[in-house]
Amino acid sequence: MKNTMVIMGLLVLIIFISVACLAPQEVPMINIDESIKMYIVADPHYMSEKLTEDSEVFNSYLNTLDRMMKYTGVFLDIIEDDVKKNQPDIVIFPGDLTNNGSKVNHLEFEKRLQRIKSTGKKVYVVPGNHDINNEKSLYFKDNKIYTTESINEDEFVEIYSSYGYDEAISRDENTLSYLVKPYQNLWLLMLDTTKDYPEPGGYINRDTLNWIVSCSDKAKEENAEIVVVMHHNLLDHSEIIWEDYTVDNNTSAINTLHECDIQLVLSGHIHIQDVKTHVSVETDNTIYDIATSSLPVFTHQYGQLTYSPSRGYDYETIKLNVEKYALENNIKDENLLSFNEYAEKFFTDNLCSTHKDSIRLLDIPDEHKEEVFRTVTEMNKKYFSGYRNEALKQLIETKGFKIVEELDECFIQEYIMGMIKDQNADNNKLHIPIN
Ligand SMILES: [Fe+2]
Repeated sequence: MKNTMVIMGLLVLIIFISVACLAPQEVPMINIDESIKMYIVADPHYMSEKLTEDSEVFNSYLNTLDRMMKYTGVFLDIIEDDVKKNQPDIVIFPGDLTNNGSKVNHLEFEKRLQRIKSTGKKVYVVPGNHDINNEKSLYFKDNKIYTTESINEDEFVEIYSSYGYDEAISRDENTLSYLVKPYQNLWLLMLDTTKDYPEPGGYINRDTLNWIVSCSDKAKEENAEIVVVMHHNLLDHSEIIWEDYTVDNNTSAINTLHECDIQLVLSGHIHIQDVKTHVSVETDNTIYDIATSSLPVFTHQYGQLTYSPSRGYDYETIKLNVEKYALENNIKDENLLSFNEYAEKFFTDNLCSTHKDSIRLLDIPDEHKEEVFRTVTEMNKKYFSGYRNEALKQLIETKGFKIVEELDECFIQEYIMGMIKDQNADNNKLHIPIN
């Protein structure tokens, strides 16, 4: 009798556990006085160490890029560490997950997502132009460059099935875009905006725009807010550099998002930190396009978005503390131990070197060229980090700036002047009230 009771008890327990595991997970609601936190990690361009070596050819390749490829793995290690310490609810990656879409890079990147997800966080990705059908998926061996296997669109969905695709409540038939419902009242519309992989340009076709409207209708029926995540930018983030960054048909895309009463777009791709807004003349609705700067690009930061149904959205950037991480983890690499200095030098030597070439061509004395380069470099550091206008006040007073002001019309002048006639002085902090 006692044995039968024990067996019966065990059976009940097994049935209870099975039902609990099989029952669909209840989608949580964010209550009016609660908030959730989301990390936005843009353009990590992860490159596996398996594809690199310490050689002349590899080092000269590194020097041609704006991003610090050598430490893409370390930057993502720090993201994992920050996730563990600060416990965001969601981590999103708006594309350019890998360096040139090599399969090896994707598979290793996915392992990193697995670790983040295993701590109970929701993780969502969309592809960027670098991630799919990329014939430039490079690897370096014996001081030579080779190409390695890349992935196609189906393989992208397969590799990243656990980071959005399996959970999608709707998928677009024409692209790798999908809709997820992490909360009853906050949904994410994850858009695949690359026009033709692996070309850099972006586009949202008419059928996808119609699908977006159907997603919005569903969300409105359930009183849910939609946040859009896309690799390319919805709005121009620079008056001179927008082609292949902003989606080609952004007028139709903006109109559609206004029609859907969508307030917030989280993008990447342009690698600078910038916020732009567009106000609808018909409804007075404002769309914010927050471009988070690329993780391996100076100033090496990611975005944090807090959402509360009563307060709205609060966005801010968080700078990676590489030096602290290196110290805590007993890393001996001098570049990482004194990272702030190393990162500034890398930025000046790599990203600003193209400006050096155009400054060299100016018809001004050599000492003036040096002054101009110094000012351009310092302004560029601030600009990439999200500072404009009065935040550059000190640099506007330099001799280099005055020389630029007096130049005949040229790219450098247009670029520098654009930095002080922008929408916002600080693009690192933003509050968006609910409509
Ligand atoms: Fe990128």
